[in-house]
Order: sequence, then C-alpha cells, then structure tokens
Amino acid sequence: MVTRDQRPGTHPPRTTDERERGDEIGRHLNSLSELREAVNACKRCLLYRDATQGVPGEGPDKAELMLVGEQPGDSEDLEGHPFVGPAGAILDRALRDAGIERKEVFVSNAVKHFKFEPRGKRRLHSKPNASEIEACRWWLGEELKFVQPRLVIALGGTAARSLLGHPVTVSSLRGLPTPFTEGAHVWVTIHPSYLLRIPEQAQQRAEYSKFVRDLEGATAWLNRKAK
Ligand code: URA
Repeated sequence: MVTRDQRPGTHPPRTTDERERGDEIGRHLNSLSELREAVNACKRCLLYRDATQGVPGEGPDKAELMLVGEQPGDSEDLEGHPFVGPAGAILDRALRDAGIERKEVFVSNAVKHFKFEPRGKRRLHSKPNASEIEACRWWLGEELKFVQPRLVIALGGTAARSLLGHPVTVSSLRGLPTPFTEGAHVWVTIHPSYLLRIPEQAQQRAEYSKFVRDLEGATAWLNRKAK
C-alpha cells in the first residue's frame, strides 16, 4: 500500500518562492479543464523549454480505468493529445482486442512535456530522469483526484515509478493488482513502444498477445470487484 506521503498529489501549500517560479504545487484546481491550461504553463522542471506544449491526460471526467504512459512523444507534443502517435496506434489496437473502449478510459502520462534529443531534423525520445518524473507527479496526483479511477494501468516502468513513488521492475508486478490508494489499485504492464522495438515478428506477436492478456486481466479484475 502506498503511504500518504508517497502518494502523488499530497503536498503542503505552495510557498511564495514556489508561486514566483510558477510552481503549481498547492494550487487549488477546480476542474480537469483548468488543469489542462495549468499543465501548459508548468515550469517545475526544464522540459517545458524545448517542448511545444504540455500534454495533459484526456478522457471522461470520471473513469473506472485510467492508463498512464511515460511521456508525450513527437506526435503528442505537436498535437497536444496523449497517445496519438505510433505507440498510440498499438495501444488503440490492443485496447480494441481486449474489448476496452478508449473513450471510456482516462489516458495520461507520468511526465507531461516531451523530452528529446535533436538528431538532424528528427527529435529522438529521451527517457525522463528521476527528478523530472518527481517534478511531474503532482499533476498525475491531481488527475487521479478528479478522475477517481478504481484501477490505474501503468504502461511501463516510468508510469509505475511515478504512481508508486519508488523505482519498480515491471516483471515483478506485471499483470497483478497492486494496492495503491484506499479506493484504487495499480496494474503494471509493458509500455506499448516496447513492442515497436522488437525486431523479430514472431516475438513481437507473442509480446503483443501478452500485452492484450494483461489488459483483459485488468478489466476482468475490475468487473469481478464491481460484483
Ligand atoms: N508514449 C507515451 O508514454 N505517451 C504518449 O502519450 C505517447 C507515447
């Protein structure tokens, strides 16, 4: 069980210094649409400097199921929506195959700004570090407070780390309900972009099926809990 101090979203009111830095910690947000605007103005770490915009989570105001990825990629950064690029295409397919309607799920990320390294005209994804993940946890905590999911699927290690408040090995928690907050559990699985990096087709198919089974397992668990 995650303790109160570890839980994202539990912070003391912001200080004058934090306010002057544009820090949102302690600020009272009234709605997800207010949060959307505020994420875009966030300067809690330096990733805002090179990113096009902050990309907040999207979905119903309240949802039983929430999905959390790592950070926006190139397409998400340009379009301002989570999971709309190549990883999003695999995620959409896997959700369909698992019988989950994306429009009924709240989809977000652990980190709200795109971190990348320029390579010629391309921008190559770069993994967020511990302090960037930590700086962004407040936003995820706020989203959790609004959406109130009963199950949060962590897509990969960065999401799991942000949610649980400590580094996590995906294989150790994969496909199991992990107690999270009073009303919610976390369900850890792989990040869909892992599938894009598997060169061998048969292995890619096998890992994709395992990913779909994780998603099916998560909804089956949710449905059992609802009875
Ligand atoms: N990868 C993520 O983790 N999130 C996105 O929104 C897109 C790609």
